Amino acid sequence: MQIDLPTPMLAGLSPAQFMRKHWQKKPLVVRQAFADVQPPASLKELAALAARDDVESRLVTAFDGAWKLKHGPIPRLPAMSKPGWTLLVQGLDQHLADARALLDLFRFAPDARLDDLMLSVASDGGGVGPHFDSYDVFLIQLAGRRRWRIGAQRDAVLRDDVPLKIIANFKPEQEFVLEPGDMLYLPPGWAHDGVAVGPGCMTGSVGFRASTAEGLAAELLPRFLDEIDGTGKLYADPRQEASAEPARVPAALLDFARRAVEAAVQRPLALERALGEALTEPKANVWFELGETLPPGQGAVLDRRSRMLYDDAQVFLNGESFRASGRDAVLMRGLADRRALTAAEVARLSPGARELLDQWTEDGWVQPLAS
Ligand code: SIN
Ligand code: CO
Repeated sequence: MQIDLPTPMLAGLSPAQFMRKHWQKKPLVVRQAFADVQPPASLKELAALAARDDVESRLVTAFDGAWKLKHGPIPRLPAMSKPGWTLLVQGLDQHLADARALLDLFRFAPDARLDDLMLSVASDGGGVGPHFDSYDVFLIQLAGRRRWRIGAQRDAVLRDDVPLKIIANFKPEQEFVLEPGDMLYLPPGWAHDGVAVGPGCMTGSVGFRASTAEGLAAELLPRFLDEIDGTGKLYADPRQEASAEPARVPAALLDFARRAVEAAVQRPLALERALGEALTEPKANVWFELGETLPPGQGAVLDRRSRMLYDDAQVFLNGESFRASGRDAVLMRGLADRRALTAAEVARLSPGARELLDQWTEDGWVQPLAS
């Protein structure tokens, strides 16, 4: 991606300028970010996805002023002519190639932060109420119109009489109606309320993810256990004196434990491996269709569900890590960054790396690149 090239998608800013001026800092409204925008799914396709039990969806209704939330699968949607409902379908990028392509436009932010594409469809007046999100979001108007009201309020008190996280005292500061092709970027923690203006309002949300320090530690620490086999030096205490407090934990044993835990975490590449594997772990509802070995002379493309990252010594794919160096590392990083390798690039892989690519193709993580 050309990170220094101004783009209409970011209101004439380059991705580099956008990240400096707006990312995690202040909202941006972009008129006609996408000319001739096409929703990646029709209402019918969205309704079919929402009816599946392996797709995350929610139906929010505010009929007669009463907020209701129903988690999917949603077998039937209310009529589009009935005002006050919205359907939200998560993870569209896993299910539809066009949704993946839309998400890919936002890869000027690290893949490690990119989460998914959610699509919402609403009848007139539909919305999820004024709320905060903890993550950055790009809200793309794909069809119909939506009125957004946003504000930077500190008052985070939520209503306790509704099944959704709705702000009790919403004080919007700005208001605008987005038309198809327009986009709104919001940093985390901005109060916002989007209400459909007319039927058939479709909005795409490009969502990001972030962990708390403790959440990340809880996720990473069990992964260190994979490398610990319980062998090594036994605890020894030749200087232990007779104890009048036999129940007290010996200080030397605490020291021994501290050093053992620190050594486990500080093993070369252990933290890097744990982080890379955790960040590329597929979501619980993701599955891959098994494929066949990559045909000779063909390029390769990452399956739209695959998550691939790398660091200086390893590549990570769908929760697994692989050591890579030299030319293979350069090529594998290319696969991760561009999500594809040309036939010529595949031909330059070492036999070992080529074998790995074949395995990934059989696992359905990589697909042959249509030539
Ligand atoms: C929506 O698309 O209706 C809701 C998106 C949001 O406000 O986060
Ligand atoms: Co929101």
